[in-house]
Amino acid sequence: MMYPVTIGHSEVKVNPLGLGTNAVGGYNLFPGLDDQAGIDLVKTALDNGINLLDTAYVYGLGHSEELIGQAIQDYDRHKIIIATKGAHDFSTGKEVINNDPDFITKQVNDSLKRLQTDYIDIYYLHFPDHDTPKAEAVGALQKLREEGKIRAIGISNFSLAQIKEANADGYVDIVEDEFSLLHQDHLTEGMLDYLHENNISFVPYFPLASGLLTGKYTTDATFPADDIRSQITDLKEPRYSTILHAVDLVRPIADNHHATIAQIILAWYLQNPLITAVIPGAKNARQVLSNAKAMKIELSTDEYQTIEQAFNQFKQIKSGKSLKDPD
Ligand SMILES: NC(=O)c1ccc[n+]([C@@H]2O[C@H](COP(=O)([O-])OP(=O)(O)OC[C@H]3O[C@@H](n4cnc5c(N)ncnc54)[C@H](OP(=O)(O)O)[C@@H]3O)[C@@H](O)[C@H]2O)c1
Repeated sequence: MMYPVTIGHSEVKVNPLGLGTNAVGGYNLFPGLDDQAGIDLVKTALDNGINLLDTAYVYGLGHSEELIGQAIQDYDRHKIIIATKGAHDFSTGKEVINNDPDFITKQVNDSLKRLQTDYIDIYYLHFPDHDTPKAEAVGALQKLREEGKIRAIGISNFSLAQIKEANADGYVDIVEDEFSLLHQDHLTEGMLDYLHENNISFVPYFPLASGLLTGKYTTDATFPADDIRSQITDLKEPRYSTILHAVDLVRPIADNHHATIAQIILAWYLQNPLITAVIPGAKNARQVLSNAKAMKIELSTDEYQTIEQAFNQFKQIKSGKSLKDPD
């Protein structure tokens, strides 16, 4: 495997296994980690070959960005790739998605302050809004790129039609969206092929299906009401048992590599030509250290195909998104 990888048409280069930080800073998807634990998690990643940190304004309404800003102060900024996102507008008192160029420009400037840096490596429009022409919103990011405030342009949670509209001027470098061996809708809908053909990088979120693809769950798993996993359809029968069976088929491959199921699943994404980088989240240092080791695993062609086959049925089942559009 050739590391680092390049993001779209940009000059951003990154080690392809990053850290998803929506648990850093007390985001509302999960009961939050305390601040110091979040900072330590980021530092553990940076100390162990991970240089891509994926955050967003909405993760703790800026708090995840603030903690990352604190964590990176002891490191060489040029060796770190910060990806953040904006579009959530709370100025009316309720949550609205806003891609208006002026709003996005302000979001970027606010993120720069919170992150204590003068540039952001990858900036994503977090969700599409209803009104702003997509190419106009991306045009605002292109202007920020020309000013040196961002280095690569991303969009997240856009449909294929919206991606094409957003990329009318060829400015889009990277797309982040839900994709995992359990959620393969974007493969079957042709989004991943379009991105590949247009040299747009793809980063899947929820790569471990929020832990389901680590092999640690059994049929009696339950989650607290404030954990997003209490709502997801993956845990409903008969789908849940089908998932557990598919995950079990990965176990012999993991044993063969003296690896965990999570490491093998992450290695599979890293070897998938349609995927540029993968950003598993983590709740503790042990998970970060373990996931980082996936960068050292090389699956044989047979092993790669066995895993693909084990989850093939999830190509036929339209799963929809686990995360609802907040609009
Ligand atoms: N663009 C978007 O709209 C969007 C939306 C969602 C997420 N994201 C990004 O994608 C990232 C990844 O999503 P995610 O963190 O929610 O889901 P994920 O990567 O699928 O799952 C991560 C969770 O799995 C468990 N886990 C991780 N490594 C493990 C290991 N080695 N062994 C056992 N369990 C392990 C941990 O939860 P437990 O310990 O609690 O089981 C961890 O929080 C986020 O952090 C965020 O940066 C982006």
